[in-house]
Amino acid sequence: MKAIKFGLIAIVAFLLLNNQNTIASAQPSPASLKTSIARGKELYLTQCLACHQVDGGGVPHLNPPLDGSANVKGKDKIKLILTVLNGLKGVELEDETYSAIMVPHKELTDQQIADVLTYVRNSWTNKASQVTAAEVKAVRAKNK
Ligand code: HEC
Repeated sequence: MKAIKFGLIAIVAFLLLNNQNTIASAQPSPASLKTSIARGKELYLTQCLACHQVDGGGVPHLNPPLDGSANVKGKDKIKLILTVLNGLKGVELEDETYSAIMVPHKELTDQQIADVLTYVRNSWTNKASQVTAAEVKAVRAKNK
């Protein structure tokens, strides 16, 4: 009987500890920043490269550069998330107009948008904070 009780306590303790580990791993960590950038790169190569180019330099008068863009590496993540969700058309960026259209990407998941924005915010000469799926989810919910 004692052995059974001890066994049960051990199982409960194991389950509690395991649960705590799952909660801890949900927080962004340097490892998850790296993973997000890697996944974002894959997505960039298939969804964004044709217009914004492999070096993020864009195409003059057609598609804006993402490398060095104050909007891309800035603090206003909401505007960035909205640009990817809803697209952009006829908006002057840094004293330049672009004749192509930024297509909407509503079909991408919150995590995919977070990954691709984290990638462009941390590529070429850009260095900025991570965009999380939770941030994309909140912006998407407010702009339905
Ligand atoms: C069909 C071409 C095209 C594709 C594909 C495209 N974009 Fe764009 N993007 C544009 C154009 C054109 C603009 C500028 C629109 C304007 O000025 O009104 C733009 C603007 C942006 C901006 C705003 C830049 C700034 O300085 O404010 C961001 C950020 C951006 N795109 C990210 C992306 C990401 C990420 C993807 C892939 C998920 C993507 N774009 C796919 C054409 C494209």
